[in-house]
Amino acid sequence: MWKRCCSGALAKHFVSAFPESNVTILDLPKVVETAKKHFITDNEPCISFLEGDFFNDPIPEADLFIIARIIHDWKEDKCVQLLTKIYQSCRKGGGVLLVEALLSEDKHGMVTSQLYSLNMLVQTEGKERTPSEYKKLLTASGFTDIQVKITGKIYDAILGKK
Ligand SMILES: C[S@@+](CC[C@H](N)C(=O)[O-])C[C@H]1O[C@@H](n2cnc3c(N)ncnc32)[C@H](O)[C@@H]1O
Repeated sequence: MWKRCCSGALAKHFVSAFPESNVTILDLPKVVETAKKHFITDNEPCISFLEGDFFNDPIPEADLFIIARIIHDWKEDKCVQLLTKIYQSCRKGGGVLLVEALLSEDKHGMVTSQLYSLNMLVQTEGKERTPSEYKKLLTASGFTDIQVKITGKIYDAILGKK
């Protein structure tokens, strides 16, 4: 399994729920350095780090890619570029799990999602999106059998399979 970084909190939860798994955390070198120093210890042998740029460096093979709060940072063409790279590195039968705050199809929905979207519009190239918009990005990148889970909490889940 391969996931995006920051604190590594999700990686810790993942290996405690699925102890037979190995998780590689990929992020930019500075972020990995900080996460290693402050959050992940050597007592977690199932978790390893990879310093890299997901647009320009190779993405290692995995069964599952968890991409939490990443796609909302980018414009459509960059999302498809990244998701296509992930599709190519995904083993057959595996998939990608996006964790994002979903807007409803009419672009309303939870106030938190709308505030996050405003924040993304101001601070990044991206925005929060509706389930259909994520389905379109995943389909354009090769993924099929897309399932959306609205959790009723801040973050929702979108699963695409290879
Ligand atoms: C909003 S944070 C989300 C982090 C984490 N997945 C989470 O949910 O807490 C976005 C992350 O993307 C990383 N990032 C931005 N551009 C990147 C790139 N080109 N290659 C790898 N990581 C990148 C940032 O360093 C940051 O850790």
